[in-house]
Amino acid sequence: MSRSAHPAGPRHADVLPEGHYTAPPADLNALDAKVWSRTVQRGEDGVVTVGGMEVTRLAEEFGTPAYFLDEADFRARCRAWADAFGPDADVFYAGKAFLSRAVVRWLTEEGLNLDVCSGGELATALDAGMPAERIAFHGNNKSQEEIERAVSAGVGRIVLDSFQEIVRVAHVAQAQGRRQRVQIRVTVGVEAHTHEFIATAHEDQKFGIGLADGQAAEAVRRALKLDGLELIGIHSHIGSQIFDMAGFEVSARRVVQLLAQVRDEHGVELPEIDLGGGLGIAYTSEDDPREPHDIAKALREIVTRECEAAKLRTPRISVEPGRAIVGPSAFTLYRVGTIKPLHGLRTYVSVDGGMSDNIRTALYDAEYSVALVSRTSDAAPMLSRVVGKHCESGDIVVKDAFLPADVAPGDLLAVPATGAYCRSMASNYNHALRPPVVAVKNGRARVIVRRETEEDLLRLDVG
Ligand code: LLP
Repeated sequence: MSRSAHPAGPRHADVLPEGHYTAPPADLNALDAKVWSRTVQRGEDGVVTVGGMEVTRLAEEFGTPAYFLDEADFRARCRAWADAFGPDADVFYAGKAFLSRAVVRWLTEEGLNLDVCSGGELATALDAGMPAERIAFHGNNKSQEEIERAVSAGVGRIVLDSFQEIVRVAHVAQAQGRRQRVQIRVTVGVEAHTHEFIATAHEDQKFGIGLADGQAAEAVRRALKLDGLELIGIHSHIGSQIFDMAGFEVSARRVVQLLAQVRDEHGVELPEIDLGGGLGIAYTSEDDPREPHDIAKALREIVTRECEAAKLRTPRISVEPGRAIVGPSAFTLYRVGTIKPLHGLRTYVSVDGGMSDNIRTALYDAEYSVALVSRTSDAAPMLSRVVGKHCESGDIVVKDAFLPADVAPGDLLAVPATGAYCRSMASNYNHALRPPVVAVKNGRARVIVRRETEEDLLRLDVG
């Protein structure tokens, strides 16, 4: 658990209710580098800057709510992952975390590959110039049209997720006179969440083809027989927001066991394994993610050891981090609208966004941090809940956080680590207009995804 269910630190007031908070931080004005992107700092005048630009100015120019993406931070994380894995491995950025044309261009320039899981993501990737051979196409129910587009575009790999798909992709490839490189996604019986993982014999979920019951070996048998397919490896993705490498260890061991079985049965050593994404980031000061170098070293050691034991050549490894690259690179900027102190409970601080721009708190009980960024304050810490403006009591952005007691309407609050699965999961609930994504770098800011307008909403409404 990243936070205890009860306050871990000393209670600073008798009236604090039960909740997922710890003691208030010593200095509410301090910005913990763990949860903020690397160019974020507080200026001498108390205003926070990103990429050399003051949030007050950014709010004026681009409005709130808005996501600000620190381009230098994003690129540095891409490079860190690419360097950590080196030339004999491949890093595929998981586009589902956040994808736009600008991001695709940055990835292309920084030497990363891209994992897409829909026709829309594929279209964005191709439109922005990602070479097709650097794209992996995922999904448990790819449409016929998506398969045809992926094959004709020449994507580097399609990750097959069912027996039907093995046949469908083979047919499409043959019809187009191609041999499509594919991996088979297997379910290794490991489910990992944050600091825990659970190994089970069978997984009750929709992804992949089961290893334990021999289905995955059967899928390999079938794929190897089809002329339209070139089976290059096995894929496994075990979960999200993972800190503990033990789940990857079990996953790698089981995948390598399958490779050994394939070698014994077919005399073929499959050259690649993909261990998926899921590496955790710091949403609060209590999360301690590993550095890409540590992760690469650990994964390489696990795979090498297992392959030596099975007397296999070590396959080429690939990984698919999404959150670990874009998550920490952005924050959401909100303006405070109304404030309601509920005596003996907490103070509800309402901002101008909410579950339409960050559904993760409502959906997963996710934890976030928040800071007053338009000024500093010496006021006492006040237990707060940052909520949105939607017609739903579960519309919570940050469940439990300490803000200075003098927080007031008009103040700017920023929620860090919202680069992944916030804009990409944003909705129009209550006909909210989805916020823009603004890239900031070296004192310059530019919109990379513009704010929706009422016109956009009404354009789709053709009744
Ligand atoms: N590869 C595959 C096959 C995946 O299914 C995923 C995520 C990733 C890579 C990237 O995982 P990451 O490194 O970003 O954790 N909406 C949820 C996360 C869903 C992840 C689904 N698959 C959230 O907001 O936490």
